[in-house]
Amino acid sequence: MKDEILNLLKKEAKISDEIDDADINDFADLIEEIGKNETNHIKSSEISKDLNTRYIGKNLYIYNEVSSTNTIAQFLSQNGIGNGSVVVAEKQTAGRGRSGKSWESPLGGVWLSVILTPDVDYSKIPLITLATGVAVAKALERIGVENPEIKWPNDIMINGKKVCGILTEGVTNFNSIKNVIIGVGIDANLSIEDFPKELQAKTTSLEIELERKINENLLIKIFLEELEQTIELFNSEAYEEILMEWRKRSYTIGKIVEVKKPHKKPYDGYAIGISKEGALIVEKSDGSLEKVISGECIIKN
Ligand code: BTN
Repeated sequence: MKDEILNLLKKEAKISDEIDDADINDFADLIEEIGKNETNHIKSSEISKDLNTRYIGKNLYIYNEVSSTNTIAQFLSQNGIGNGSVVVAEKQTAGRGRSGKSWESPLGGVWLSVILTPDVDYSKIPLITLATGVAVAKALERIGVENPEIKWPNDIMINGKKVCGILTEGVTNFNSIKNVIIGVGIDANLSIEDFPKELQAKTTSLEIELERKINENLLIKIFLEELEQTIELFNSEAYEEILMEWRKRSYTIGKIVEVKKPHKKPYDGYAIGISKEGALIVEKSDGSLEKVISGECIIKN
């Protein structure tokens, strides 16, 4: 993390190369201060205008270019920046995806991370990921996407192609308060050439699907509103309501899937549902049921 924070300081605060030995926590205030600037595309004034939330997005940190908004959010959360704060960047140089993959993050996408401090048992965290998928899908519906679907656990799909990914990471603070960083990457105003060749067949963007440019600030505002509503359901333990919204938009249930878990033999099965903990329930060929809480799930039909 240190190098990533130092790079941000060197680029955006024009601090000299000599700070390499410094304690990065001494610069937390400066990182916050830089984040209060607007960029060419991302404007706090536009996101905040009529933002109908109580706490999510009330504190915005906006950067031109960071390694990963999740890393910056993690750093800020360890330095006292709290519940509901949001980090947004125009570009990421080392965007992170699930399962250790990298995440392409050029100009034109919405790359953001939300810091949450949920007051629940850690075992409930997978449900936060599902709740975030529901919030993204609802936000896309509000801007005119007809049938966004959620591929377990939380890829958002349009017409069978991925348009958004979510990476939830837990952070243990020095004083042991646990924060959750929800990283969301939405391919908003990207054209097909912006994606690496090997991803082009299975990825899309809002601009491609809606055949128009998207107002990124408005999309962020709408998403933050939807997120607060689903997180409120989560906080009030209305888990079944979140799961119902998830199931309504499921891309996975009813399909044959290949389940891949680290260090285990992959297997095929029929995705029959989602459990109350947010696990995918898969019926294997011998009729036994398996609950998949983490890992990769590839749709076979
Ligand atoms: C996935 O693999 O589907 C998850 C992709 C998550 C990407 C977002 S972009 C904002 C945040 N910062 C990151 O480095 N990753 C997440």
